[in-house]
Amino acid sequence: MQIITGKAKIAAVLGWPIEHSRSPLLHNFWLQRHLIDGAYIPLAVKAEDFNTVIQSIKAAGFKGCNVTIPHKEAAYQCCDVVDETARKMRSVNTLWFADDGKICGTSTDGDGFVANLKDTGLTLTNKKILILGAGGAARSVAYSLIQENAQISITNRTLQRAEQLVQDLGAGQIIKWQSWAKELGQFDLLINTTSLGMEGKEDFQFDLQHARADLVVTDIVYVPRMTPLLIAAQQKGLKTIEGLGMLLHQARLGFSKWFGVDPSVDHELTEFVANSLKK
Ligand code: ATR
Repeated sequence: MQIITGKAKIAAVLGWPIEHSRSPLLHNFWLQRHLIDGAYIPLAVKAEDFNTVIQSIKAAGFKGCNVTIPHKEAAYQCCDVVDETARKMRSVNTLWFADDGKICGTSTDGDGFVANLKDTGLTLTNKKILILGAGGAARSVAYSLIQENAQISITNRTLQRAEQLVQDLGAGQIIKWQSWAKELGQFDLLINTTSLGMEGKEDFQFDLQHARADLVVTDIVYVPRMTPLLIAAQQKGLKTIEGLGMLLHQARLGFSKWFGVDPSVDHELTEFVANSLKK
């Protein structure tokens, strides 16, 4: 049973809409596991109310919060202290209120993604990696992979966005969207960061015929858990890594900042969150 007293540590996730967020489930699972006097709550916050709500929860003694769509850029702007990752992303997803009153923030998406890959035993140094997509998710993933000394290539439906991303990162090759499937044979890892294959979106056939037998395939989409890309890869006998682990790993830093315990990502947690996605 979760224990919440008058001394409870409180954190939140701010988004609009927020009903679909799995973060409350996940953080409250950890709070119960570690018998922590605390709570993590969802707050539906419109873009125009973001700064007021941040100041209010800070004044109310919250330890910090996560932010999701559409607040990641506004959250970056409201921070007094950010790290190098946040500066590169110009966005944050994790905020904590320091004892001196300063608002601190970072972006944990990319590191969460990398931690999920490493959890499966994958090494990234010098690996040739193809990233599908050039949106916010691709930016976080690409930045963290570069920190791991991986060699990244980016392909995107809108070429200009891929060019901008490579320029901002100061690294990476560009592959034309029309030709990535034919070029697949040169890569060790394929990552989908687009919304292709997401539940409720149009169907898309991923062409993996030119993949090498040792290609590893991963998707940051986790609803459905087995995406069209992962199914196509498994049908070819390729190793796959599901996207749910990124969600779980990106949450760890915030939890440890607010509640003082570094929580682990394990089978029990993964199945608990995965089961909630079916409902
Ligand atoms: P996020 O921040 O989650 O990455 P985003 O910035 O909207 O979201 O990016 C979505 C990504 O999915 C982009 O790379 C987008 O390609 P465009 O830049 O060309 O829009 C990609 N995407 C979405 N729908 C797509 C589709 N039908 N075909 C190909 N790429 C698609």
